[in-house]
Amino acid sequence: MQTIFSGIQPSGTITLGNYIGALKQFVELQDEYNCYFCIVDQHAITVPQDPAQLRKNIRSLAALYLAVGINPEKATLFIQSEVPAHAQAGWMLQCVTYIGELERMTQFKDKSAGKDAVVAGLLTYPPLMVGDILLYSTNLVPVGEDQKQHLELTRDIAERFNKKYNDIFTIPEVRIPKEGARVMSLQDPLKKMSKSDPNQKSFISLLDDPKQIEKKIKSAVTDSEGIVKYDKENKPGISNLLSIYSIFAGKSIAEIEQEYEGKGYGDFKGDLATVVVGALEPIQKKYYELIDSPELDAILDRGAEKANAVASKMLKKMEKAMGLGRKRK
Ligand code: TYM
Repeated sequence: MQTIFSGIQPSGTITLGNYIGALKQFVELQDEYNCYFCIVDQHAITVPQDPAQLRKNIRSLAALYLAVGINPEKATLFIQSEVPAHAQAGWMLQCVTYIGELERMTQFKDKSAGKDAVVAGLLTYPPLMVGDILLYSTNLVPVGEDQKQHLELTRDIAERFNKKYNDIFTIPEVRIPKEGARVMSLQDPLKKMSKSDPNQKSFISLLDDPKQIEKKIKSAVTDSEGIVKYDKENKPGISNLLSIYSIFAGKSIAEIEQEYEGKGYGDFKGDLATVVVGALEPIQKKYYELIDSPELDAILDRGAEKANAVASKMLKKMEKAMGLGRKRK
């Protein structure tokens, strides 16, 4: 069985973008692969976090992974900081990464733009992510499109390490969904929907209540033409809503266009809200059952134990390859 690794930052509320680009794929893949799904809390501290809120977000994300359908009997679910090999591998991999490579990352450029003081961790974020992936001999990394550049760097660094030291790393492939690889902001459809967007109306959280969802969809920016038609270039707002509709309703975009021929955006948005509310309802129900349960802790404990066993073995191989520490019998 091939191995999958992927992670999500507990840096805010989990959005429809995270669900469509990442979580939904994870659920579909867990039957066919040996999966590791991680709550990457060490990545989250590359930007300022309120400690109490971060702890809440970590637990909340863990419950959401399960609520969307991750089966802990099949997949290993764990918190990054509970597996020390990640930070250790991240350091070693920083030592085979060039500063120029890190400065070219669009995520770094976006997050550091206009800031007077940029913490070093924001720049060295990618080698930590490379370590996450390589520690598990990962074959496939399911992510949204925005992570593609990080995955290309992961492959480069793995190949460099293999050549320079010892051939120990599997070179991972990226898997980006055909539909919904980049869900756009509801307020600015030229921007990615993001959990760190200060404008709450720009994203739908998986935990928004029906009223909030309806309000956000109704106030989504579209155009003045009033024709429900997919045209990403000229009608990015309605095209984004059509993609979301298509994914949640399991209908093709052409089918939906036909259904709304001669109808306006009001009808379409109202129905889209119903579809999204209907899809999120069972997820939210499961979430609230899990969030305060001891079962959630037991799953995370088991996940950390399993992940530690695998990751610490690879870490030893890395140390040996680089000549760190002592030879032991
Ligand atoms: P993060 O936390 O920003 O996002 C988690 C996942 O959600 C996807 N995603 C989207 N997909 C479609 N449309 C959107 N608007 C959208 N917004 C987010 C992301 O592509 C991602 O798959 N660096 C990663 C976390 C990470 C990781 C890893 C991922 C750390 N280590 C190892 C994979 C493997 C990140 O910031 O994702």
